[in-house]
Amino acid sequence: MELYKNDIAFEMPDKTQDETRQGEALIQERPVHIPSNGKKFYIESYGCAMNFNDSEIVASVLTQKGYDSTRDFNEADIVFINTCSIRDKAEQTVRNRLDNLKVIKKRNPGALIGILGCMAERLKEKLLEEEKLIDIVAGPDAYRTLPDLIEEATGGQKAVNVLLSREETYGDINPVRLSSNGITAFVSIMRGCDNMCAFCVVPYTRGRERSRNPESILQEVKDLEQKGYKEITLLGQNVDSYRWSEDESLRGKKLIELKDTDEVFNFANLLETVAQSVPTMRIRYSTSHPKDMLDDVLHVMAKYDNICKHVHLPVQSGSSTCLERMNRTYDREWYMDRIKAIKTIVPEASITTDIIAGFCGETEAEHQDTISLMKEVKYILSYMYFYSERPGTLAAKKYTDDIPELEKKRRLQEIVDLQRIHAHESNVADIGKTFEVLVEGVSKKNENQLYGRNSQSKVCIFDKGNHKVGDLVNVKITACTSGTLIATAI
Ligand code: SAH
Ligand code: SF4
Ligand code: F3S
Repeated sequence: MELYKNDIAFEMPDKTQDETRQGEALIQERPVHIPSNGKKFYIESYGCAMNFNDSEIVASVLTQKGYDSTRDFNEADIVFINTCSIRDKAEQTVRNRLDNLKVIKKRNPGALIGILGCMAERLKEKLLEEEKLIDIVAGPDAYRTLPDLIEEATGGQKAVNVLLSREETYGDINPVRLSSNGITAFVSIMRGCDNMCAFCVVPYTRGRERSRNPESILQEVKDLEQKGYKEITLLGQNVDSYRWSEDESLRGKKLIELKDTDEVFNFANLLETVAQSVPTMRIRYSTSHPKDMLDDVLHVMAKYDNICKHVHLPVQSGSSTCLERMNRTYDREWYMDRIKAIKTIVPEASITTDIIAGFCGETEAEHQDTISLMKEVKYILSYMYFYSERPGTLAAKKYTDDIPELEKKRRLQEIVDLQRIHAHESNVADIGKTFEVLVEGVSKKNENQLYGRNSQSKVCIFDKGNHKVGDLVNVKITACTSGTLIATAI
């Protein structure tokens, strides 16, 4: 699988975090009791794990209506592209892909092309004017209506639904994952985002934050366990603000708005319940927000062996003044206090992050603050980007995108070089240690080797022997690169 490198200049061994991915086709079987309607759909996904999980929901909705999926867009009656808007380059990739898809209509004039996801939501009807070959535009909360939209478009009309919802969580739709390795799966626990980070388009493309009913989450997790899955990742843009209550009026409330007597089920409660309900499965989660990550979640992590010891805590910048312009609602001191809490409560946890170089007005001193913070934390891995202005965001309205591209790239390179050193140092320190690894697949470079991750989310490669995909194997680390641990099974 190709990782979508975009403007990220660092190898990314871990596919479950927030990096964006490019163009994977999804294949899903129609339930046996539902007769085929004779039409095939093809779906290709870009962006974050949540978008990929959404494609599985789309496939569920369509197969329930008798559509069959195909891995070959040439034989599809409907081609869907599930898109990402996070940086300009992500959108450019989709536009280039659309150029390639023109051949579909030449071969089969009746074929439909649908744009789903964040770019659909951001551009709405404008997409239809800009890209004439598009027939359907559907935002992230409109997937239940896709069968109707297809019908409308089949009748020759352009079909659009970009309504965002305050309730939709697709909680009752069980995504079946036939395209995956059958070992690891994503489970969405919430949708949308109520933070207003100045650089970020997500609140506009995904709408208001809403949490999914814990019962439907547990049901999905149990179902995955029964199907033989060994690891799940609980997904949300901001998992720490997960909040469920039987009392509907309490669901959207922020922590500070709640009274002591209000009964709410928070992320720490959910994590603990999931850990208890599937004791033999590994549990990961992503993404934490520094402002909301409190000690309770860390205590739950420390208490349960089956919760992986890894925290992804995006910092974005090491400078308090820059963080303020970014509207991240924490400063460097608060962030470092959270790092201290992780290192104290879950000492074996690895820490990873996201960093943006060259945000509006970033001075050299502010950039150096990011460098010094990296030296203090020593992340095992970072997703690093240079700032890309997104229309309509707070930053686009309030600030000038004033750091020249060359300078953004120089700063990013400095961050990337330092990250590589830290990743390598951390891997060298693991040589001689033993870890339990969940085998996820056969190495692409050498079919006699397997790869998997340890609890800290580091990728380990080792000789196959009698082991197979899905096994938990104890390995001893013998060597490393900056991205991978080389091991032998013991
Ligand atoms: N919800 C997560 C991250 C969502 S987007 C969080 O709050 O951390 C994933 C990452 O993309 C962000 O952490 C940020 O580092 C990066 N990103 C978002 N908008 C960006 C922009 N306009 N330019 C460059 N990078 C951006
Ligand atoms: Fe974007 Fe901030 Fe929400 Fe993350 S928390 S999705 S960066 S607005
Ligand atoms: Fe994800 Fe990209 Fe949308 S990162 S939420 S698919 S803008």
